[in-house]
Amino acid sequence: MENKAIAIGSDHGGFELKQEIIKHLTKKGIGFEDFGCFSEASCDYTDYGKAVAEAVAAGKYEKGILICGTGIGISITANKIKGIRCALCSDCFSAKATREHNDANILALGGRVVGVGLALKIVDTFLNTPFSNEERHIRRISKIES
Ligand code: RB5
Repeated sequence: MENKAIAIGSDHGGFELKQEIIKHLTKKGIGFEDFGCFSEASCDYTDYGKAVAEAVAAGKYEKGILICGTGIGISITANKIKGIRCALCSDCFSAKATREHNDANILALGGRVVGVGLALKIVDTFLNTPFSNEERHIRRISKIES
């Protein structure tokens, strides 16, 4: 994995899983910044999705991890930010493919969808898989932005 830290954020629906991911990153010595939320009190996924996506798009963090109840609202929000390719994954195959093919820079997870064990494997797969750098994938990604 690259050197820059991970930006992580969630709403209340993703808070519990985020705490597990934070423990996991800490154990592995992977740097991160938690953009909130900081409790299970009801809040808006848009605020945290936007904050993390803007920080990643600005180049302050190499990648981001976003969690809400389904992962849907927070990924839709993140993908509104220019330069962000946020992939909602519930399996390791997708997490690997989205890094290799889409050079996804944010992983979204559904805290009410995936269990902790699977989520941590998805996180590891996402963080450890490099972009393929293949011409056809570079071409397709460039068309997303145009
Ligand atoms: C919050 O109840 C829930 O709507 C949110 O976490 C997320 O699933 C939205 O897409």
